[in-house]
Amino acid sequence: MDHFQNPRNAGELADADAVGSVGDPTCGDVTKVYLKVVDGKVADIRYKTFGCAAAIASSSIATEMVKNKTLEEAASITSEDIVDALHGLPPEKIHCSRLAANAIRAAVEKYRADS
Ligand code: FES
Repeated sequence: MDHFQNPRNAGELADADAVGSVGDPTCGDVTKVYLKVVDGKVADIRYKTFGCAAAIASSSIATEMVKNKTLEEAASITSEDIVDALHGLPPEKIHCSRLAANAIRAAVEKYRADS
């Protein structure tokens, strides 16, 4: 609840090196991740989530988890890692945590494709 009510890293990065965007076709929610990369690490990260409370909380905690991590570490974050960090989600909300993990991975892949 704290990450929903006080989301961290929300917004855009004007000087992002890569942007990853994913949507969940079943609910229509979308998460966009903005990545700033320095020396192969996540120097800064922001997100915009048009989605439910669980998706926003997942984006908030996931962006905190990958900050200052290597791109490999950031790309390997899973929805299970996010759910654990949030101390669980209701079973019907587990899929919401995938948006953040997949958007981070998409941003890393975009960065790699462009550099
Ligand atoms: Fe769509 Fe949660 S209901 S991400």
